[in-house]
Amino acid sequence: MPCASSHTCCRTSPPAPAEPRTSYLQMAPQRLYTLSVMLVWSCVVASSSSHIPVAPPRDLQITDPGLLGPLDIEWKPPPDVQTSSECTVKYKFEYRNTGDTDWKVIFTRRLKFRVGFDLSRTAEVKVQTLLEGRCTNGVEVQSDWISATFQVPLQGKLESQVQNFHCIYHDWEYLKCTWQPGLLAPRGAHYGLYYWYEGLDQAAQCDHYIQDHGMNVGCTLRNLSQAEYQDLNICVNGSAAATPLRPLYSTLRLHNLAKPSPPRQLVVSVSAAEELLVAWSPPGGQTPPQCLEYEVEVAEDLEEAKAAWAPVLTQMETACTIPRANQSHVSCVRVRGRTNIFCADQGFWSEWTQECFSVSRKEDKQLFILIPVILSLSSSLIIFMLIGQCKKRSSEGKPSEVSVRC
Ligand SMILES: *[C@@H]1O[C@H](CO)[C@@H](O)[C@H](O)[C@H]1NC(C)=O
Ligand SMILES: *[C@@H]1O[C@H](CO)[C@@H](O)[C@H](O)[C@H]1NC(C)=O
Ligand SMILES: *[C@@H]1O[C@H](CO)[C@@H](O)[C@H](O)[C@H]1NC(C)=O
Repeated sequence: MPCASSHTCCRTSPPAPAEPRTSYLQMAPQRLYTLSVMLVWSCVVASSSSHIPVAPPRDLQITDPGLLGPLDIEWKPPPDVQTSSECTVKYKFEYRNTGDTDWKVIFTRRLKFRVGFDLSRTAEVKVQTLLEGRCTNGVEVQSDWISATFQVPLQGKLESQVQNFHCIYHDWEYLKCTWQPGLLAPRGAHYGLYYWYEGLDQAAQCDHYIQDHGMNVGCTLRNLSQAEYQDLNICVNGSAAATPLRPLYSTLRLHNLAKPSPPRQLVVSVSAAEELLVAWSPPGGQTPPQCLEYEVEVAEDLEEAKAAWAPVLTQMETACTIPRANQSHVSCVRVRGRTNIFCADQGFWSEWTQECFSVSRKEDKQLFILIPVILSLSSSLIIFMLIGQCKKRSSEGKPSEVSVRC
């Protein structure tokens, strides 16, 4: 049993709290059998060593820097830690919001962290000391956990919080957020939107509100390119007659909220092979063209009752070829754009841009020009024939009939 005293062999099991070494000795035989001989070579043969208990860190503290999401977490090293070169002290730091199933885990030597939370829920953190090195014979020793929680003061009733909070990042140019007053918002409630992202010294207030009957129900934020691809923390709070309303906290990712303008310059033509040739340009604005995908739909003879839009394809290119249905006079194509998977996890479709190609218009026109020509030609022919007959008859000596018929 060369590995019995080495924790390295038992790494595949979930990290166990620091236990007396004897318990490893009891567990090791079964585990080693299942781990198979393969692992044995990598084990450090450790001579007999006594177990070194390690204390958890001290003074775990959570403070709110007022950035609408991030919290600062600090702790102090355990009191009796051996700071010799023999052993390294690390910490396993875990955090989550109450209600989350998973903890986020950070292994670190630092004593201070700033991590993001949803401030409308309780923040939970815990940290333990990890000691490993010669002083522990290469075995990683874990301390007990210490934990702490934090909750911003939840003023006001939950029903006073704004509802239907939505944000769209239009053309990667401006963010428009809208909301509705809380169900139990008193009359005269005044809402404000505050935001912060890495790069701003402190939370800033919206400077362009959207109003409805004098109440703030939305906000437009511009110049956010620095906030792209990172957390944008938002808080909508408010008060009514000096009574605070329940704040709403939200952490956004702008690139996942992007909505482009419709594609431009859509052109539809027909090839010699009777296929529709479709081409368009990316929308304007700041939307990165390489971040777009397009959806193309086609409809034949849209005016007819049974006609309907049929999806053709989704692609990143700005041109495509579509077969035409037989006999159709008018083929309509519509295209819309959205952020593709290379730039975002999700996004909003743009509005459609639409263009129709009327195939038979040329033939119809020719027919319309021909009909009057044929009509006039044939009528003049008939007149000529009649006149000829009249002349014939008058020469036969029947003037009375001629005056009636001609
Ligand atoms: C845009 O934001 C940057 C910092 O993010 C700032 O330096 C600049 O003055 C802003 N521009 C405008 C037009 O507000
Ligand atoms: C809303 O939040 C901002 C930013 O935290 C704060 O400065 C302001 O006092 C709050 N307003 C109310 C009414 O609570
Ligand atoms: C068009 O008509 C031809 C023959 O009339 C037929 O073979 C073909 O399948 C039709 N194509 C479509 C798209 O309806």
